[in-house]
Amino acid sequence: MKILIFGDIVAKPGRKAIATLLPQWRQKYQVDLVIANAENLSHGIGVTPASLEEMRSAGVDFFTSGNHIWKKPDINTVLQSANPVIIRPENYPPGLPGTGHRLLTVGVREILVINLMGRVFFKEHLDCPFRALDAILSEFHVRGKTPSTGVSRPVDGIFVDFHAEASSEKNALGRYADGRVTAFWGTHTHVPSGDSMTLKHGTVYRSDIGMTGLKDSVIGANTESIIKQFLTQLGDAKMHDVDEHGEVIINGQLLDFDGLSVNTWQALQESIII
Ligand SMILES: [Fe+2]
Ligand SMILES: [Fe+2]
Repeated sequence: MKILIFGDIVAKPGRKAIATLLPQWRQKYQVDLVIANAENLSHGIGVTPASLEEMRSAGVDFFTSGNHIWKKPDINTVLQSANPVIIRPENYPPGLPGTGHRLLTVGVREILVINLMGRVFFKEHLDCPFRALDAILSEFHVRGKTPSTGVSRPVDGIFVDFHAEASSEKNALGRYADGRVTAFWGTHTHVPSGDSMTLKHGTVYRSDIGMTGLKDSVIGANTESIIKQFLTQLGDAKMHDVDEHGEVIINGQLLDFDGLSVNTWQALQESIII
């Protein structure tokens, strides 16, 4: 099966680029499942149900997220719905809306998608992502691997979006997960890393897939407004100025997976004018 993964899709230019390109990529690569990080879909910060629906119509099947998930509270109803199409980082404090992992059925296969968040360089004091991963992996294991507990359920693949700032933390958690999950990728920096690789015990890894957003920007937001924030130390943390038009870079990662092992793990990049 082929799984197409996107990192952070930023605001209207990112959504428009996905709506334009994704139908072509679905066809070209014969994709079975599309997963995207939704935390910046709505004006660069947060996500609304309407933006999610727009991306669903474009061909995204399932969404992970990150630290901006809580910025637009309407999303809580989606997070709390019976079969949510979006998950949020697992290691937020207990009791918040939604969940950080979900089992999906794709054709004949069952795959588990996990969303975790890093702690390095974040103001939030989250639970330990390493132990949060262990807790999930006490309930699920990749078929054919040794379960860590007697109650663990076998699944065909386990896929982890680690939303984190520091590549060191991503490297460390990726290697900690190596051999226990199928694929591990990073999001949040919006900058694609050049380190797509297979780790020692077979997990495919990339520190960050990178954003889908305006090229002439600061991680998707208007350049002048962000420079001004750095110069003045003033700015609204709930708002980003995002330009409407320009060249959009689309970053993705294509996983070809036969239920036992990963055949290809390929970085994709394309640019279009919006
Ligand atoms: Fe982001
Ligand atoms: Fe983020």
